[in-house]
This record gives sequence, structure tokens and C-alpha cells, in this order.
Amino acid sequence: MIKRIKVKNSGIIKLQFVDDFPDGILVIGEAKRNIPFEPKRLYYITNLSNPKATRGKHAHKQLEQYIFCVSGTFRLHLDDGTTKQNIILDSPYYGIRLGPMLWHTMSKFSRDCVILVVASDYFDEEDYIRDYKQFLEYTNT
Ligand code: TYD
Repeated sequence: MIKRIKVKNSGIIKLQFVDDFPDGILVIGEAKRNIPFEPKRLYYITNLSNPKATRGKHAHKQLEQYIFCVSGTFRLHLDDGTTKQNIILDSPYYGIRLGPMLWHTMSKFSRDCVILVVASDYFDEEDYIRDYKQFLEYTNT
């Protein structure tokens, strides 16, 4: 499922959960405990009905985020400017750190995929690097 993380500025967290089978599973993330910052924002992505959809394709200068696959499955491609890694996310218990200066791309979404992201700060387009060449210039200087 999730391999060892090879890229810089990433990592894996495993959330606690309460299995109330057959009445559901409750998964818990707590700020400054298993999520190492106090989130200021969350967003989720749903209705991923296009099997060819590609999202992400950017890095952040400062933002810290954790990305979760709360339902279904998708592929997360990570690139720190030197090392690249593909991770299949298919478990609601694991979160992957998207730290600063980590180019990330999401694809291969199952129809039932729901992605949850918790972020350390409010939305700021100025914090995005959306040009891959510019990203490589930043990371290789
Ligand atoms: P983007 O972060 O590029 O999405 P993804 O990485 O999933 O492909 O954001 C898509 C659009 O939504 C872009 O126009 C910015 C806007 N947006 C906000 O207004 N607020 C937010 O918190 C986020 C995450 C995106």
C-alpha cells in the first residue's frame, strides 16, 4: 500500500480509528498530536467522475498540508526536484505530508474517490508554484 517515503519534505502519518463494525469506522486526526500543526483550512475533492482527471501539478513555497484518501483510491505522484515517487492512496487511515517545495500530482481516481486535505494556512495563490521549470529553478538553487 504505502511505501517508505523517499522524497524530501514528505512523510506518513497513521490516524487512530474506532471500528464500530458493522456500524462504521470513525477516524480521528488531532492538531499537534497526529497532525503536527494547527490546521487553518480543510478542503475536499469529490465527484471525480473523469477517469483521466489530473489535479495538483504544483508546489507550495511555505504551506504545510496532509492529504488523505477517505474513500476509494488515487495515485499521488511526488517530486522534490531530485527524487520522484508514486504512492497509491487507498486507505482512510493514512495521510501523506505535502510539505513546502514538493511538486505533487494526483491522478487515477476511482469513481468513489474522496480526497481530504488539511492545510496549515488560508488559501494564498502567491504561495503556489505552478510552473514546473520555475519549481526546478527554486529547488536546484
Ligand atoms: P488547486 O489547489 O490548484 O487544486 P488541485 O491541487 O486539487 O488541482 O485549486 C483549484 C482552484 O481552486 C484554483 O483556482 C484555486 C481554488 N482554490 C481556492 O479558492 N481555495 C482553496 O482553498 C483551494 C485549495 C483552491
